[in-house]
Amino acid sequence: MPTVRDIAMKAGEEPITMLTAYDAPTAAIIDDVGVDIVLVGDSLGNTNLGYETTLPVTVDDMARHTGAVARATDDALVVADMPFLSIGVDEQASLENAGRMLQEEDAHAVKLECGPHTVDLTEKMSQIGIPVMAHLGLTPQHVNKYGGYPRQGTDRDTAKRIFELAKAHEDAGAFSLVLEHVPSNLAAEVTAALDIPTIGIGAGPDCNGQVLVVDDAVGLSDWSPSFSKQFGNVREEMESAVDAYVTAVESGEFPAKEHSHEESDLEDIY
Ligand code: KIV
Ligand code: NA
Repeated sequence: MPTVRDIAMKAGEEPITMLTAYDAPTAAIIDDVGVDIVLVGDSLGNTNLGYETTLPVTVDDMARHTGAVARATDDALVVADMPFLSIGVDEQASLENAGRMLQEEDAHAVKLECGPHTVDLTEKMSQIGIPVMAHLGLTPQHVNKYGGYPRQGTDRDTAKRIFELAKAHEDAGAFSLVLEHVPSNLAAEVTAALDIPTIGIGAGPDCNGQVLVVDDAVGLSDWSPSFSKQFGNVREEMESAVDAYVTAVESGEFPAKEHSHEESDLEDIY
């Protein structure tokens, strides 16, 4: 069984790899290839549920998709993202929502979009046995506060705030930290200052690991952020397969004899 301790140990070795997954077949591919961590991100809202933001994603949505990913994953650490309003409003509800991902859906850990309001919560979760991956920098659940998705920590005060919150979450017991869309020199400073591994997205090369949204990485998304990289062309592959199917059906080429079953004995039916 993969553990958060393996991830902490890896920090000194080669970079940690993390990708999102939202369904069983994608998780199985990622796991077979040997990715260290599968994140069931609340980016589910954008990638799979057709929403503009992550805000409409619910605990039930995350539970359903976390279960699907966990059932298809043998070796990678499965981390469930906690969606908007599921943590940080009420302590008991926060603990129950996060605990559900481990107790009912077989996640190994949860990820929290962090701020001053998640320091005590991280400590409580860690004490209870819910490992916490913290997430600082650009936290997309704050889209309405930011008015978009701007890079974070670009001035002295906000950089200092991210640095201090990173330390506070490490002290509270977080086992790793995602840094999203921050200047690479800030990510490098935070990484050097922490014992727990940092995992960057749009945070430069000096984090202990990297994460991307799988749809962006394989080339399935119709849009992806500039800090992302497309390593494949799945969208084009699917388009050409769908196109070939339509052509084959319309031309009568499919189904051919080898795709068809023998006729039934229809005596006495008519
Ligand atoms: O939801 C998500 O996919 C994420 C990663 C981009 C870190 O939070
Ligand atoms: Na997320």
